[in-house]
Order: sequence, then structure tokens, then C-alpha cells
Amino acid sequence: MNLLILGGTRFLGRHLAEQALARGHRVTLLHRGRSGPGLFPQAEHRIADRDGDLSALDAGTWDAAIDTSAYVPRQVRKMAERLAGRVGQYQLVSSISVYTTFDAPGLDENASVQTLDDPATEAVTGETYGGLKALCEAAAQQGFGTRCLVSRPGLLVGPHDPTGRFTWWLQRLTRAGEVLAPGDPEAPVQFIDARDAAAWMLLQAERGSAGTFNLTGPAEPLTMGGLLEAARRLLAPQARLRWLDEAFLLAQGVAPWTELPLWLPQGQWGLDQVSIARALASGLTCRPLAATLADTAAWAAEAARADAAGTVGGPPRPAVGLEAGREAALLAAWHGRPSAAGG
Ligand SMILES: NC(=O)c1ccc[n+]([C@@H]2O[C@H](COP(=O)([O-])OP(=O)(O)OC[C@H]3O[C@@H](n4cnc5c(N)ncnc54)[C@H](OP(=O)(O)O)[C@@H]3O)[C@@H](O)[C@H]2O)c1
Repeated sequence: MNLLILGGTRFLGRHLAEQALARGHRVTLLHRGRSGPGLFPQAEHRIADRDGDLSALDAGTWDAAIDTSAYVPRQVRKMAERLAGRVGQYQLVSSISVYTTFDAPGLDENASVQTLDDPATEAVTGETYGGLKALCEAAAQQGFGTRCLVSRPGLLVGPHDPTGRFTWWLQRLTRAGEVLAPGDPEAPVQFIDARDAAAWMLLQAERGSAGTFNLTGPAEPLTMGGLLEAARRLLAPQARLRWLDEAFLLAQGVAPWTELPLWLPQGQWGLDQVSIARALASGLTCRPLAATLADTAAWAAEAARADAAGTVGGPPRPAVGLEAGREAALLAAWHGRPSAAGG
């Protein structure tokens, strides 16, 4: 297969490119040459800013194009014009964030998507990201019609994750001691190893399939307790999880998701209970949790060593997760609360 990846050198796209090359496909990557310099010498690199002159894409035909780097609908419309008649399937990587609400479990692909007060905005923020991805989806369907496949990934995790969210938990556990575990251990949690998402996307490219798919995991329901306990056992058996309830954390002003990654208050659990029946029926397989944990922890340790040695280029990884002093203060407040007497 002749595959075009619009992106391909950071995280999800990097896994896509790696797997596509390993499967013997001819791969063309479009990017600005900033992320992952030197990656994939076996691929053809077309260097361009997709927001500017796209003549780098004037020549060539591809069986499929997978777009990992579209955030505003103009980028999709421009790509549809530029590639008109020269790609078989077009895949847009959208997001689970397109949905209007997550107040019920089992949300499927027919649920309503967000609309923006200002559909012309190009400011990608926490508030506009989902609505803009929904507009990207509409532009993709208009531009590519029945040749369009839209995937809506949930949280992507694994090696090379630039967001540091899932990885933060593994790094925190390996520091051991008493670890603040947020909320209810029975809270649902969903995420997908970016390598599994990439494998599914490649499979769909090889099949030339179409449609819209939620894309997250694992295949069987997982809880926050199941996740953190599995990570503790595997990576830091000496660490101790201390579960602090939701009301206490919210009263202390702890920000769900950003300050404690993956933690959502009960009213938002639907975000971690979306239906992936359609993706599973179309060939999604999720590797065992232990493999994701071990590989992500190994990559993070290696990246930290390279950071310390000053051999890592590119933008700094964002600081996420609870700062150690704040965690200690919260644990002390928890142990000192009146109702904790004796416990
Ligand atoms: N992370 C999550 O949990 C999550 C969840 C749901 C959905 N998603 C979606 O999944 C996708 C993840 O993408 P990724 O970053 O992992 O993909 P990636 O393909 O590995 O990296 C982004 C690529 O886009 C290129 N790029 C960025 N801006 C560009 C521009 N203006 N012109 C040309 N190339 C450009 C980058 O290279 P250069 O920098 O060299 O240009 C890089 O190759 C995104 O669409 C995101 O919205 C992510």
C-alpha cells in the first residue's frame, strides 16, 4: 500500500509510520521537519507547513492518507482540495472530545457532537478543541464522502506520549512511599495504547473502510483501582496507595484530570465508559495492560536519562501531575481530618 501520513513524527503518527514501514508499505510523511528529526530515513519526507504552501503535495497518489495533525476545519478543506482524486481513503484522527455530554455510560458514535458559538474561530483551547474537531469531521465528510473514515480516540498512552499524563502515574509510583490515589477505586477508566490505535488505523487503511468509530480501550472494563494496583505491583511493589475520596479532594481545590491525570469526578464518568463495540467488531485489539505499563515506564526512564544527559531535542515535556509537596500536604490533611481519628 502507498500511504500518506499528514504528520507522523511525534507520537500516534510515529507509531503509524513505524508499523506501516514494518508491514512493507511505502510511506510518505508530510511535516515541517521540527518533531523527531532524523526519524524514518526509509520513508519519503515532504517538508511543508500545512497552514501555508502545500505544493509539496502536488505530485503523487496514495491508497490512503491518515491525517493526525488537523485541528481546524480549514486544514481539512485545504487538504481535500489539494489531494482531490489522488487518495483512496482519507482518515481523520478526531477525538472523543467531540461529544456534547458524557452524562450517561455507553455513549456511541450516534451521540450528538459539540457546536461552537463561533464556528469561525481557529483558537484551539480546552473549550474549543472538541467543537473544532467536530467541524473537522464535517469538512472531511464533505471533502472525501464515502472514502472518509473518522476515528475518535480516547486518551492515547504509551511510549513517546508528549502529554505526560498517563506516564506521570508510572513515574509517581516508582518514587514509591504513600501515593495519593484519587476518588473511588471503582471509577471506570479508559485509554488506548497509541500502538494499538495505530494498528487499527492501518488495518482500516488496508481495508479501505469508512465510517466513524470511537477508539479507546481496554477491551474489558477497567477501574482506576485496577489500573493503579496493576502499575504498583509491576513497577513499585513497595509503594502504598492511599485512596482519598472525591469530596475531600474537590474541597481542597484539586483539579480533576489536570492536577491528577485520569481522575474524573463521578458526574463525568461517562467519559470513561464510551462504547467501543464498533471498533472491536472492526478488528481493534488491545495489548495487555502490563505491556503498556512496562513499555511506557521503560521509555519514560530512558527519556529521563536522555533529558539529564542533554541529548533530547524538541520542545520540553509539559509539567503535569500533582507536585510532591502538595501531595504530601493533602495526605497530611487527610490523615489529620477529624473523621480519621483511629484510621
Ligand atoms: N493525545 C491524546 O490523548 C489524544 C486523544 C484523542 C485524539 N488525539 C488526536 O490524535 C492526534 C495525535 O497526534 P500526534 O501528535 O500524536 O501525531 P503525530 O503525527 O505523531 O505528530 C504530529 C505531526 O504533525 C506534524 N505537524 C504539526 N503541525 C504541523 C503543520 N502545521 N504542518 C505540517 N505538519 C505539522 C508534526 O511534525 P512537525 O512538528 O515537524 O511539523 C508531527 O509529525 C491529534 O490529532 C490529536 O488531536 C490525541
